[in-house]
Amino acid sequence: MIVLGSNSDIARAFVEKMLEKEAVPHVYLFSSNIDALASFKKHIEVKYTTEVTVFKLDLLEQTKFDFSALTYNVAFCAAGYLGDTSEGVIAKPEDVARILQINYAGLVPHLNAIAKDLENKGGGNLVCLSSVAGERGRQSNFIYGSAKAGLTAYLSGLRNLLAKKNVHVMTVKPGFMDTKMTKGMDLPGPLTISPEKAATLIYKGYKGEKNTIYISGIWRLVMFIIRNIPEFIFKKLSL
Ligand SMILES: NC(=O)c1ccc[n+]([C@@H]2O[C@H](COP(=O)([O-])OP(=O)(O)OC[C@H]3O[C@@H](n4cnc5c(N)ncnc54)[C@H](OP(=O)(O)O)[C@@H]3O)[C@@H](O)[C@H]2O)c1
Repeated sequence: MIVLGSNSDIARAFVEKMLEKEAVPHVYLFSSNIDALASFKKHIEVKYTTEVTVFKLDLLEQTKFDFSALTYNVAFCAAGYLGDTSEGVIAKPEDVARILQINYAGLVPHLNAIAKDLENKGGGNLVCLSSVAGERGRQSNFIYGSAKAGLTAYLSGLRNLLAKKNVHVMTVKPGFMDTKMTKGMDLPGPLTISPEKAATLIYKGYKGEKNTIYISGIWRLVMFIIRNIPEFIFKKLSL
C-alpha cells in the first residue's frame, strides 16, 4: 500500500489496522518529514513481515512522482493542513496559500497520478481524507473548508470517472479527531474520536467499498442540520 501524509496519527493507525487484518507485503510511506518516520518504520518492520520504503513528498513543492514502479493496490491519503487562525482566518496570506496547496492544489496532481497508475495496474482502492468542513463554509475555518470542499468534489468526480475501471475511490469525512492537528483545542468529547477508532471505521468502509463515510456516523446528522440552517440565520451564528 501507498500512504500520503504518513506522520498523520490517522495514517499510522490505519496502516496498523491494515497490517493486523491483511497480508501487505510492502508499505510505501510518503512524507514531508521523513526523519520523523524513522521509529514508525522500525516499529512496522519489527512487528510485521512487511517491507517498508520511505519517500520524501512535500506538497508545497512542485514535484512529480512516478508511482508506476511501486507494487500496491491500496492508496491511503491523510495529508492535510488546518492552518494557523490565531490572528483570524484570512489574516496571514502565506498561510492561506499553504492551506490551499496542501489540502487541494498540491495534492490533486499526485492523486491523479495514483489514480491513473491504479487504472493501469488493473484496479485498486484509493481512500482519501477530506473533512466535514467542506460541507458549508463557517467563519472559523472556511479557507481550510473551501479546500476540503474542492477535494471532496474532486474525489466524487474521480470515483465517477473510475467506477468502470475497477478503481474504487472512498471519501472520508471526519468531524473532530483527537490527533496532533487538533492538539490544544477544546473539542466536544462525544463528537470526538480517537485515531484507533477512526482507523477501524475507515477500514470497515474500505472493505465495504463505501463511497463516502463520516467519522463517526453522528456527523452525518450534525452536517445535515448544519447544511440546512437557512442562510439568514446561519450568518448570525458564530460557528
Ligand atoms: N483531526 C481532525 O479533527 C480532522 C478533522 C477533519 C479532517 N481531518 C483530516 O484528516 C487528515 C488527517 O489529519 P490528522 O488529524 O491525522 O492530522 P495530522 O496528524 O496533522 O496529519 C496531517 C498530515 O499531513 C501531512 N502534511 C502536512 N503538511 C504536508 C506537506 N507540506 N506535504 C505533504 N504532507 C503534509 C503530514 O504528514 P507528513 O509529516 O508525513 O508529511 C501530517 O502528519 C487530514 O487530511 C485532515 O485535514 C482531520
